[in-house]
Formats: sequence, C-alpha cells, structure tokens
Amino acid sequence: MARTKSVQATYDAFGAHYDAMMRDPAESSWNRVLERPAMAALLRKSVRGKSVADIGCGSGIFTNILRKWGAKSVVGVDFSKTLLGIARKSYPPIAFQYGTAAKTGLKTGEFDIVTSSMMLHYLKNIDAHFREVRRILKRGGTYVFSCHHPLFQAYGGDPFRENVPARDVQYLANYPYQWKMMKKLHLHGYCHTFEQLSESLTKEGFIVEKIREPIWKKKRGSRLPDEYMLISHFPPFLIVQARKI
Ligand SMILES: C[S@@+](CC[C@H](N)C(=O)[O-])C[C@H]1O[C@@H](n2cnc3c(N)ncnc32)[C@H](O)[C@@H]1O
Repeated sequence: MARTKSVQATYDAFGAHYDAMMRDPAESSWNRVLERPAMAALLRKSVRGKSVADIGCGSGIFTNILRKWGAKSVVGVDFSKTLLGIARKSYPPIAFQYGTAAKTGLKTGEFDIVTSSMMLHYLKNIDAHFREVRRILKRGGTYVFSCHHPLFQAYGGDPFRENVPARDVQYLANYPYQWKMMKKLHLHGYCHTFEQLSESLTKEGFIVEKIREPIWKKKRGSRLPDEYMLISHFPPFLIVQARKI
C-alpha cells in the first residue's frame, strides 16, 4: 500500500485508540510538555477574533483549543473519516470536514490563520501542501505548523536505540522513516530538512517568521530510561510560523 494510503488506513482503523492516547496525559506527555506549549506561545493570543483553519485536525482536540482561545470561526480538516467522526461527536459546535493536505476543499482567501499540528511529517510533497495553505489564507495571513524535528528523525524515529550505525542516521530531504505509536499504529513519515522547508515555503510565497525547537527544561519523572536526558538536549518537535506575502 502506498505510504499516504497506509497512514490514512491506520488512522481510520485505530482512530479511537489514537484519540484515547491523546487524552491520556501519560501517553501524550511529549506533546503536552513540548509541542502544545510551543504552539500556544505562538497562537494563544493571535487567534482571538480570527478565522482559523486547522489542517490534519485528527479528533479535533487542538481545533477545540483554538476555539477556546477565542477564534471567531474555526474549521477542522482531515483525511481520516474515523477521526472526523470522533471530532464531530466530541465538539459539536465546530465544523469538521473531509479534505487532504493538498486539497482541503476550503474557500480561497478565507482564513487569517492556518494551523497544522503534527501532520507535516506525513507528507512527501510539502510544496503542494504549502501551495494549498497559501490559497486558503488571506494576504498577510499566518501559517503555524508543528512536525517531527528532522534531526530527531534522522535517528530513524527511534533515538532511544543504542549504537545506531552511522549509515542509519540520515538527514536527507524526503528520507522516509517508520515508527510505532502505542504499539498498534505503524506509521510512515518523511524527513524534511531545514533547507527543504525553507526553500519550499519561499517558493510557495511565504516568509519564515519564527522557528521553535522546544526542549524540556525542568527535571521530570520518566517512564523511559534517559528520556529526560534526551528531550532536554534534543528537540523532538519543530514549530514554524510563516507569513503569506
Ligand atoms: C499526529 S495526528 C495529529 C492530529 C491533531 N492535529 C492533533 O494534534 O491532535 C496527524 C493527523 O494528520 C492527518 N493526516 C496525515 N496526512 C494527511 C493528509 N495528507 N491529509 C489530511 N490529513 C492528514 C491524520 O489523519 C491525523 O489525523
């Protein structure tokens, strides 16, 4: 099965498990301590009164946070029908619709802000996605996205492995990698290097305004050996804010 279809099929098959994991503080701890606060720092104040589209919205948890932060309107888009079903049930006031990263089905020039939390690393063709985001944004609109950090993924998505052979450490544009979530979800992604991200955003008519590489600064308890050591030295997530010019 092609990689993108396989990601879609996995989220469709295990959508309920994925949603439960995202609501479980122990399972989603890296998102909670690193990714969400970094997204909040860029978006919490700026979404107030704005029209927002959240692409790759999953079960709508982050879409609902955008609504709570005071967005004037918010719409969630995803290609997993299972996750869209959970999102609609969980957050009836929000509109959720089927669409893909490159073809959202949303209107041209409609949004002040587009967000995407943890979807970009699933895409091979980031040009097509950035082009679509540009299409739906108003002029001067903002795109904020988070994804796996490309250097973290250079370790094959599993930096806990010891003695990783040098040939397995790959920092290459579109280098494919696989990982497991909750032992059930086998997922595929692509490494997007900083050069590739910057070139693609520029080509599609954006300027990069902010880059965040959050690491955990406070000592914390941990389920995994060396977890604190790792995420206090090595950012697992990359967050980018870009503006449509
Ligand atoms: C890790 S989940 C993140 C969900 C949500 N943004 C959150 O942070 O809770 C990634 C989501 O991206 C969606 N996705 C992946 N590739 C996509 C594509 N090409 N088009 C639309 N959605 C996609 C998946 O279905 C899944 O819901």
